[in-house]
Amino acid sequence: MNIILFGPPGAGKGTQAQKLSKEFGIPQVSTGDILRANVKEGTPLGLAAKSYMDKGALVPDDVLIGIIKERLIQKDCKGGFLLDGYPRTIPQAQALDKILTEIEKPVECVINIVVPEKDLVERISGRWMSACGASYHIQFNPPKKAGVCDVCGDQLYQRTDDTAEAVTQRLKAYQSQTAPLVDYYQKKGILKDVDGTKDIDVVFGEIKKLVHKFK
Ligand code: AP5
Ligand code: ZN
Repeated sequence: MNIILFGPPGAGKGTQAQKLSKEFGIPQVSTGDILRANVKEGTPLGLAAKSYMDKGALVPDDVLIGIIKERLIQKDCKGGFLLDGYPRTIPQAQALDKILTEIEKPVECVINIVVPEKDLVERISGRWMSACGASYHIQFNPPKKAGVCDVCGDQLYQRTDDTAEAVTQRLKAYQSQTAPLVDYYQKKGILKDVDGTKDIDVVFGEIKKLVHKFK
């Protein structure tokens, strides 16, 4: 089962990907997480990506296509995967189609998590992250103990690109470079909209229903 979780910054792709990954036993492939891990380790890739990310701009396509090519051929992706944050441009989607044709695993469905812009800013500014990948919201999804991850017990932190300026740029990048993919996948007949303004568990239930229809 190969699924793309699609939507603007803050729509809830990461939150839903974590839950779906557990439910279906397939890995979450988040290009944002892969890039952040590289930034943290100070790899050449991370050093190159950081300046784009902190500004809220997209990292160049050739970098992302390289990352995804390498990731999808790994063993744990054999039974399927959940893409979170990729593709974000038409060239990235075309490259993905090519890679998946080669490994004979086409994308089965694209879940478009729809949330209006005013809610996105509120969500992103209240987000707190854990090193283990879990994410929380100060108001909508608080951890059991303030500032501490329920899963791993680490201290929570805020992302360096969750500043007001970077968020504005991320939303702009979404509108100009990523939103055209809605049409791209609609034409393929595999795009399904989900109302992302509902509670996290309600959205999860809706996505599960849609995914089961494709199985
Ligand atoms: P990335 O990490 O992918 O960030 P993003 O797309 O901006 O998305 P977010 O992680 O901000 O949001 P999300 O949809 O996962 O929401 P979440 O579940 O956390 O990318 C970061 C950067 O890396 C990019 O700007 C770019 O520079 C680079 N990059 C990555 N991939 C790239 C690519 N393919 N090409 C080029 N560059 C790339 O939820 C947000 C908050 O809302 C949380 O606090 C959560 O608890 C809360 N929440 C979630 N669901 C709900 C709900 N239903 N109700 C209330 N609150 C909710
Ligand atoms: Zn954790």
